[in-house]
Amino acid sequence: MRYLGNKTKLVPFLLETVDRFQETPGVACDPFAGTASVSAALKERGWQVHAGDLMASSYALQVARVQLDAPPRYPASLLPPAARNGKREIGYRALLEGLADLDDPGHPDDLSDGEASAGHGFISEHYTSYGAAGREHGRMYFSPENGRKIDAIRTRIDVWTREASHSEAAAQFLIATLIEAADRVANTTGVYASFVKTMQPNALRPLQLRPLEPIPRKPGAGACSAFRGSAARLLASVGPVDLVYLDPPYNGRQYPAYYHIPELLALGWSTPPEIRGKTGLIPDEAQRSDWCRKRGAPGALREVLEAADGRHILFSYNDEGLLGRDTIEAALRERGLPDSYAFHDRPYRRYRSDADGPRRSYARDDVREHLHYVRCA
Ligand SMILES: C[S@@+](CC[C@H](N)C(=O)[O-])C[C@H]1O[C@@H](n2cnc3c(N)ncnc32)[C@H](O)[C@@H]1O
Repeated sequence: MRYLGNKTKLVPFLLETVDRFQETPGVACDPFAGTASVSAALKERGWQVHAGDLMASSYALQVARVQLDAPPRYPASLLPPAARNGKREIGYRALLEGLADLDDPGHPDDLSDGEASAGHGFISEHYTSYGAAGREHGRMYFSPENGRKIDAIRTRIDVWTREASHSEAAAQFLIATLIEAADRVANTTGVYASFVKTMQPNALRPLQLRPLEPIPRKPGAGACSAFRGSAARLLASVGPVDLVYLDPPYNGRQYPAYYHIPELLALGWSTPPEIRGKTGLIPDEAQRSDWCRKRGAPGALREVLEAADGRHILFSYNDEGLLGRDTIEAALRERGLPDSYAFHDRPYRRYRSDADGPRRSYARDDVREHLHYVRCA
C-alpha cells in the first residue's frame, strides 16, 4: 500500500545494517509498523516480530503480513446464500471469488441501524458522487460502483463479526485485503488528504480483491503478533527483545488525516462516525501523535527510549525531521552502552503527492534516511 514513510525500498539497507550486529534472527519489536513492511521482512528472515501502531488500518496489515502464518478459513455465511453451494466453510481464495461481484450488503434484517440508515451504504453516501453528502462536498474518492462494492463487502464482514464465534485474525485479514483493494482504485494521488477532481484511470477500474500471501513462520521461530496502540505501551508489554526498530513519524503530517479512509474501512461504521470537512475526516484524536508536533517530539523520544528494552536499538529518521540529528544521537548515546553508538545513512527519493499542495515547494527531491544505532546490553 502507498504510505508516507513506507520503508519497503529501504528494507535491503535496514537488513544489511541489522546483519552487522546480529547475524542470527532473534526477537524484534517494530512498534511504528505502518504497512508492516519492515516487520514482514524480518519475519521472512526468521525473526519473531511483535508489531504495533496507533492506526487500526496498520493493525489489519500487521495481522495479514506478520501475525498470520497462513490464510485462515471462513464461514460460507459471508457469501450470499446462492453462492454457498451447501458448504459451511470455505477457503480464503474461494471467498474472494465469491465476494467479487457483490454490490448489495445483504438482507436489511441483518444490518444494524447505522448500516441500514445510509440506504446505500456509508462509503457510497459520503465518499462518492452517488451519495447526497458526497455530492454536496464533491467528494470523489471512489467511483459509485466501487463505493457500492466496498460497502457491500465491509458490511458483510461487520454482520459476521457480530457472531461470537468469529475469528478476529480472519476478520482482520479480510479487512486488510479490502484496504489494499480500495487503495488501488482510490481516486487520489497516494494519500487521502485530498481526492482528484476528475476520475483517474485507476479509479475507473472495478475493485478487485487480490489475495494477500501471509509469510509462513520459519522453523524454530516463535509466533509473531500484531498490536493496536501506542509504541510505549507495546514496548512495555513485550519486555526484553533482541532488536527494537523505531520508525516514528518525522514531520507534522498526522497519519489519521492522511489515511482516514483506510482507517474507516478498518473500523467499520456499525456505529457511524461523525464526518467533518471537505475530505470527510472521522474523529481521530486517539491516533494523533506527539511525534508530529515540534513541541511534543522530544518528550515522545524520551518516553519511547525509556520503554524500549532491546539489546539493539535501531532508530530510523529523516534528515528533514522535526528532531535534529544531534538530539537523536545524544538521546541514543545516553540510552546505550558507552561507545556503541553508530550512524548510517542512505539517500532516497522524496514521496510526493498532490495533497502536498501547490504552496509546498521542496528544495530537493532526494532526502536522506538516517539510521541511528545503539547497543544496550
Ligand atoms: C514512518 S511511519 C512507519 C512506516 C513503516 N515503517 C512502514 O514501512 O510502513 C510512522 C507510523 O507511526 C505511527 N505512530 C505515530 N505515533 C505513534 C505512537 N505514539 N505509537 C505507535 N505508533 C505511532 C503512525 O500511525 C505511522 O503508521
